Amino acid sequence: MTAQTELISNDIQAYLKMQEEKGMLRFITCGSVDDGKSTLIGRLLWDSKLIYEDQIAALKADSKRCGTQGEEIDYALLLDGLQAEREQGITIDVAYRFFSTDKRKFIVADTPGHEQYTRNMVTGASTADVAVILIDARKSILTQTRRHSYLVSLVGIRNVVLAVNKMDLVDYSAERFAEITDDYDAFSAELGFEQICAIPISALKGDNITGHSDNTGWYDGPTLLEYLETVQVVDRVLNKPFRMPVQWVNRPDLDFRGFCGTIASGTVRPGDALVVTASGQTSKVERIVTMDGDLEEAAAGDAVTLTLSDEIDISRGDLLAAADSRPDHADQFAAHVVWMHEEPLLPGRSYLLKTGSATLPAQVTDLKYSVDVNTHEHHPVKKLDLNEVGVCNLSVAKPISFDAYRDNRATGNFILIDRFTNATVGAGMIKFPLRRASNIHWQAVDIDKASRAALKGQKPRVLWFTGLSGSGKSTIANLVEKKLHSMGKHTYLLDGDNVRHGLNRDLGFTDADRVENIRRIAETAKLFVDAGMIVLTAFISPFRSERQMARDLLEEHEFVEIFVNTPLAVCEERDPKGLYKKARSGQLKNFTGIDSAYEAPKTPEMEFDASQTSPEELAEQIVRELFG
Ligand code: ADX
Repeated sequence: MTAQTELISNDIQAYLKMQEEKGMLRFITCGSVDDGKSTLIGRLLWDSKLIYEDQIAALKADSKRCGTQGEEIDYALLLDGLQAEREQGITIDVAYRFFSTDKRKFIVADTPGHEQYTRNMVTGASTADVAVILIDARKSILTQTRRHSYLVSLVGIRNVVLAVNKMDLVDYSAERFAEITDDYDAFSAELGFEQICAIPISALKGDNITGHSDNTGWYDGPTLLEYLETVQVVDRVLNKPFRMPVQWVNRPDLDFRGFCGTIASGTVRPGDALVVTASGQTSKVERIVTMDGDLEEAAAGDAVTLTLSDEIDISRGDLLAAADSRPDHADQFAAHVVWMHEEPLLPGRSYLLKTGSATLPAQVTDLKYSVDVNTHEHHPVKKLDLNEVGVCNLSVAKPISFDAYRDNRATGNFILIDRFTNATVGAGMIKFPLRRASNIHWQAVDIDKASRAALKGQKPRVLWFTGLSGSGKSTIANLVEKKLHSMGKHTYLLDGDNVRHGLNRDLGFTDADRVENIRRIAETAKLFVDAGMIVLTAFISPFRSERQMARDLLEEHEFVEIFVNTPLAVCEERDPKGLYKKARSGQLKNFTGIDSAYEAPKTPEMEFDASQTSPEELAEQIVRELFG
């Protein structure tokens, strides 16, 4: 019986208190089932004796019935049982297991090791302090070892255990072990690990897991459990500079003004000098208030309310930071992005970027390359697919405060969210701020949009026509422009086919190119609106995201979305340029409506079926409604 099981039965209060005070280590195991990952975790859980008795009985029975180890216990079944639980939807992406020994509490993240589970592995690893990378002693370093090591390094883990498993199958050979560890050291040199602890083990036989094995007399390092119980993790958020996103300003009366939040990194004490990163204003901590009274010190993970000695402007979403160690504050930065969604990342598309303190629109302005997670090679790409890792520049709508992920995992990470489905589509790790933006300022001009528009005697705006090729957008837009022109309005028509001969001649019809096509059109339309013009655009503009982006660039009421909703069959029947025929016969790829999507507007300002009414009548109707 271990000391803790004794406590559980004799003094549960003391046990719970001990649990609370014990340090916590989070780690991830990387490897496939073949490497013995399930067996390893199973054995750790087993040897830590925190498996319920009934589970042990069931395990013994199951091992006899369907285990692969004869009369011995098949520890992998323990995990497979948990895996079944996962399939029932109890735990989804990552399974976290909790166990503890007399010295420490552990949370182990268990994720499948195959390439199609990269996103799960990144999720599980992102909170881990240590990674246990399993290697089959017979096989040495495989593609998956390279992948796991790269991802572990990407998410900032600096302590690695190289668990060379199945030593029993290579006769516990010291030479074999040395060969593997040398290979690993050479290949991982570029990954920036601070400590690699190689341990010869057999998860199945129990060698060097919790007890030193007689079979490896030549090995004098720690057992796996000893290592996990004693490792001092280098990258603890605790040792980082103080950071706290303000979640709420508590002002019950005029005498009290407290800033509430959970400390993301570092520690804080009364008297510490803090800065509000956005405004640069500084003050000193007066009190650290909690439900249980004031504190002398608070640290990462604590939820606290801080009061400051000066009245300075602070609101929800601000980041409080140590005044002598400030984070970066910028609206553009370079980052690693791991893509987590079936719909690819497209540069130029607007996503929501969420950090610990802020959520705001952002786009990838430059996708530099993707990284092959198996070989670590760089490839030029136009988009990122599910499970791909890329390096890119991002631009956010307003400056945000952050640290480089390398320096601070808590304030250097972000997620990207789809603006329509709210799904988390990507995870990012910031590399460094881009200074270029800070040297470019808005040039103040004396003649503004209102005065330009007043001179023309009109309200500038964009009539954004969207619909399939052949739907009648260009024809109707052209007629509308003629009518407006004859009414003395100052107009400009941007048309798909025409713009693609000049400004956008470098773009084709992949999703990525269409996003960029519409982004440039939207920016151009905005400039024309600023010039006081009435702009008409006739582009398929097939994606909701980019139409929304165009809308967001303008003021309310300046963007009028006109959906020319002509049925595909009619457009195809008309086929004015013979393109549908080509697309159907496979000569033309990515044709909208055939093998490329059209996302119909949900709430356009206007919608017509141009097969039911003549273009002339529709143009009449539009002008009457908008300018009558
Ligand atoms: S968009 O999708 O990026 O908005 P845009 O409106 O600029 O497209 O251009 C569409 C025009 O390009 C169509 O009317 C058609 O004449 C031509 N075209 C050529 N190839 C394609 C294609 N694969 N899909 C759609 N239109 C195409």
